[in-house]
Amino acid sequence: MGEIEIQVGDITKLAVDAIVNAANQRMLGGGGVDGAIHRAAGRQLVEACKQVDEVRPGVRCPTGQARITPGFNLPAKFVIHTVGPVWSGGGRGEAERLAGCYQNALQLAAEHELTTIAFPAISTGVYRYPKDQAAEIAVLTTRKWLKYHSLPQRVIFCCFSEADADFYHNQST
Ligand code: APR
Repeated sequence: MGEIEIQVGDITKLAVDAIVNAANQRMLGGGGVDGAIHRAAGRQLVEACKQVDEVRPGVRCPTGQARITPGFNLPAKFVIHTVGPVWSGGGRGEAERLAGCYQNALQLAAEHELTTIAFPAISTGVYRYPKDQAAEIAVLTTRKWLKYHSLPQRVIFCCFSEADADFYHNQST
């Protein structure tokens, strides 16, 4: 079964097969980790995102789904863009959609035969998802995926602070 690792650092520095971007539905960049990834990847990334078909006007990646592009200037080979739910109290299917982000990103990684993938803490910044609940969904969804699939072999949760990493450590005990 694949292994889970918890790291603290800047996801744009990781030389892995794919890093996951906490994007928005337009997939044309933004702030937070989305901004950092686009800055590090260079302008070719937004051009590649523009090639992703819109499923409806202004929406290239619906919430909970995932799309893959090359990583360009990043040390990572690919970027898997996913769109987390905006937290609105927990009564509007946020947990299922967040689980879908992890599930669909892992599915894309497996389809592309990638062995190592790194996730940021999707939805826990601008989208205000409670960090403890988001970490639980991330770890449980990933564990379940790895139990039944041989790829990816290594999943890194790349947290931007030690405090954020503690939410993941608390899950894996
Ligand atoms: N490396 C790793 N993690 C990072 C980095 C980085 N370089 N920069 C930010 N983070 C962390 C944040 O600290 C947070 O824990 O990524 C997590 C996700 O926060 P956001 O980037 O704000 O993403 P999210 O909450 O999913 O909101 C997505 O924000 O930037 C816009 O275009 C984006 O509209 C979308 C929305």
